[in-house]
Amino acid sequence: MVRLSMSAEVHQFLSATIKPGDSVIDATLGNGHDTLFLAEHVGEEGHVFGFDIQAGAVNNSLKQLVTHQLDHRATLMMKSHVYMADLIPEQFHGHIKCVMFNLGYLPGSDKSVITLPESTLSALNIALNLLAEDGIISILAYSGHPGGADECSAVKAWASQLPRDGYRASVIDLLSSHRSPPEWILISRTQML
Ligand SMILES: C[S@@+](CC[C@H](N)C(=O)[O-])C[C@H]1O[C@@H](n2cnc3c(N)ncnc32)[C@H](O)[C@@H]1O
Repeated sequence: MVRLSMSAEVHQFLSATIKPGDSVIDATLGNGHDTLFLAEHVGEEGHVFGFDIQAGAVNNSLKQLVTHQLDHRATLMMKSHVYMADLIPEQFHGHIKCVMFNLGYLPGSDKSVITLPESTLSALNIALNLLAEDGIISILAYSGHPGGADECSAVKAWASQLPRDGYRASVIDLLSSHRSPPEWILISRTQML
């Protein structure tokens, strides 16, 4: 039996969506697993823009890329994701194929530094404006840490009020687990508004 983590399921789904030449965003770098995955999939012509507020996260992510000789495919910034639109060159706006959010704290580090509902929702609204016509936003939201359940609820409430003629919003919530797995919220752009 193959047991996939939710994160692996996200990668499996996105690997069918992200094509060589795509421009994508990792809104929460963490330890760089998602950034490495994105850099592998955008190919030589594509690009990854990555954001995190912690130096350790940016350094860990850069190390992952350097180890795999993929650092030239990414621009990593120690900045909050609320500044994405200001920091990504304008020529990419409206052409971003995928924005990944993996919420919560940096594993193996200070658990009090977490993503927060207000800035997360602000960044999600900004991400919508950066998306390509067929772009998607993938959000992994955790309820197991203090503040996590409120943030997860806020993200689902935000997703459920998106205009139905422009976006498709869905949630995957793993029922068959004794632990507290993340919920996966997926937003697909269905047409230009
Ligand atoms: C669960 S980790 C991300 C995991 C990561 N994607 C990976 O593959 O390892 C969440 C990260 O969000 C970062 N974070 C918190 N607030 C942020 C913000 N406003 N902007 C960008 N990153 C933020 C934390 O520093 C932490 O590194």
